[in-house]
Amino acid sequence: MHSLPDGYTALVIGASGTIGRAFQRAIAADPACAGVVALSRSTHPGFDLGDPHQFAAALSALPSDLSLVIDATGILSNDPAGPEKSLSAVQPQNLHRLMQINAVGPLMMLRELAPRLARGRCLYGKLSARVGSISDNRLGGWYSYRASKAALNMLLQTAAIELQRRLPGLVVAAMQPGTVRSPLSQRFVSAATDTVLPEEAALGLLAALDAIEPGPGARFVDYRGKTIPW
Ligand SMILES: NC(=O)c1ccc[n+]([C@@H]2O[C@H](COP(=O)([O-])OP(=O)(O)OC[C@H]3O[C@@H](n4cnc5c(N)ncnc54)[C@H](OP(=O)(O)O)[C@@H]3O)[C@@H](O)[C@H]2O)c1
Repeated sequence: MHSLPDGYTALVIGASGTIGRAFQRAIAADPACAGVVALSRSTHPGFDLGDPHQFAAALSALPSDLSLVIDATGILSNDPAGPEKSLSAVQPQNLHRLMQINAVGPLMMLRELAPRLARGRCLYGKLSARVGSISDNRLGGWYSYRASKAALNMLLQTAAIELQRRLPGLVVAAMQPGTVRSPLSQRFVSAATDTVLPEEAALGLLAALDAIEPGPGARFVDYRGKTIPW
């Protein structure tokens, strides 16, 4: 990462996932990185986004000068039938669960992490999704996923504005990786679907993050470095 100091430290949250793993490998391969910590439900300590009370313990052993944080967690649906195709398929408990895992949990994680962010240039990227863009929504459907990612984007923008007052070198980005084959996407990706390899998505998003000037507020970017309208 050209914009970070030599010997920087990094954290990948959700490193057990397809895109999270690719981020962890890409960051570990950066000669300027002194160390990357991986956290997930299966690390020790670990965390579940459904239970923010676990976050403090999961983060307690982390360095206090993190220059790069990637949160690659997320779920597409909480229903065996998959994301809702119609209003009649929306179940309140599924909508609540998606809000908790995709929006509320990551914000509470960022709150817990904030005191550990480096005071100089610092990059925080959260995997969002293009379908969370309100202005880009022309197809409808996927109510809970879309709504939870749109809520995430607003929470990131609001947190960025506040945190940048204390940390003027902080970059906050909501990130769209492209369509990547993973357990999350598998039901909607056929052999013919145009997909992006996880490594390509991770490297593209790291380059996009590296190029963003700090503040004001958050940015919504894709793996090619293009800005997505909120
Ligand atoms: N794949 C795509 O095409 C695509 C497109 C647009 C956006 N995205 C976004 O990219 C992100 C990563 O997706 P992916 O494709 O890499 O999916 P994935 O392989 O299914 O990985 C999902 C990650 O989220 C974690 N996670 C899920 N529920 C959790 C919980 N309750 N507590 C803690 N961690 C939890 C998983 O942990 P476990 O390993 O413990 O389950 C895993 O690390 C998501 O935010 C997704 O919305 C993906």
